[in-house]
Amino acid sequence: MSNQDALINTISTNFKKDQDEKGPDLRHLHPKSHGLLHGKFTVRDDISDAYKIGVFATCKTYDIWVRFSNGSSPSVRGVLKPDTEGDVRGMAIKLMNVSGDKVLDDEKETQDFVLINHPVFFLPDVQGYIDFATFQKLKASGQTPPQELLEKLKPSLAIVAEINKKMVANPLLIQYWSTTPYKLGSYAIKFLVKPHKMPTAIPDSPNYLREAIVQYFSETEETVKFDFQIQVQVDDLITPIENPMIEWKDTDSPPISVATIEIPKQVFDFAERKRLDESLSFSPWHTLPEHEPLGSVNLSRKKIYQEGAQHRREYIEKGMQEPRPYTSILDDPQQ
Ligand code: HEM
Repeated sequence: MSNQDALINTISTNFKKDQDEKGPDLRHLHPKSHGLLHGKFTVRDDISDAYKIGVFATCKTYDIWVRFSNGSSPSVRGVLKPDTEGDVRGMAIKLMNVSGDKVLDDEKETQDFVLINHPVFFLPDVQGYIDFATFQKLKASGQTPPQELLEKLKPSLAIVAEINKKMVANPLLIQYWSTTPYKLGSYAIKFLVKPHKMPTAIPDSPNYLREAIVQYFSETEETVKFDFQIQVQVDDLITPIENPMIEWKDTDSPPISVATIEIPKQVFDFAERKRLDESLSFSPWHTLPEHEPLGSVNLSRKKIYQEGAQHRREYIEKGMQEPRPYTSILDDPQQ
């Protein structure tokens, strides 16, 4: 087994253990959803021939699910961070009825795109995840992390601080980035999603991001629109494949619009939709081979996302077949 595979196994095992303790029916990361919304993804008719690849090959409209989330795991079972605290915000998009063979075989007709609200990821590689987990554990138990570890994680902690500083008014009105690269046939690209409208005031309540979406739809008849754009790799120096802590700057690789996302006014804040939200699995590896994820961080996500989703689905299914005693549920958030 390679060192990278051993690290991935360690991360996946630790995640599942943590998931068991803090929220087995939730995603280990990005557990807090602000809404699972339906919409349309329309491929533009003016894409340059060179980039008419995979789902962008033909001007077509796909039905989509879009999930908006906060990144942090629960601190204690059942307790998710209030939206008023800094966190990374996610946008996950699932195109449906996408024909062609897929890289994984658990979903046959989907193409997912997974993004966050910052141009760079906070870790350079998989070892970074292990280091960061060690740092978090030491901090949680009140110990001071060793100086060497602090030095190593300095750039990552600076990015986390930058992300946490971002004030987000409404998930429908902010920009998102893939941060990691993907294939577009023989090209390497990153992708981003830009809103057509910008936010106004920042509300203030523990779940204001979900509330902001509900309120937005209650006050408008307008469809929410985003541009889906790609940035094409220039060279390995300014637009590297490895190390997603390095931004592919707009000035080096100007974004090119390839599709439009439309989310119509809708009611989504009800129990059945939340159940569907919890049961879905978004992964960068739910993809046509033409859009396969690139780089070692993306590679690690293949197994980790699949095992995490499987773990929470098994927990939900087993619990329905054979009810569990309270001692194994511990669903009291005050505990
Ligand atoms: C080593 C790197 C990474 C690891 C170990 C990791 C791990 C995870 C896990 C375990 C989940 C929950 C999956 C599930 O249960 O369905 C998740 C979700 C997510 N991750 Fe990552 N991740 C990594 C990198 C990234 C990067 C680079 C991004 C940047 C776009 C990202 C954005 C997201 C988002 C937005 C979600 C929520 C997806 C949803 O709504 O279902 N992750 N991640």
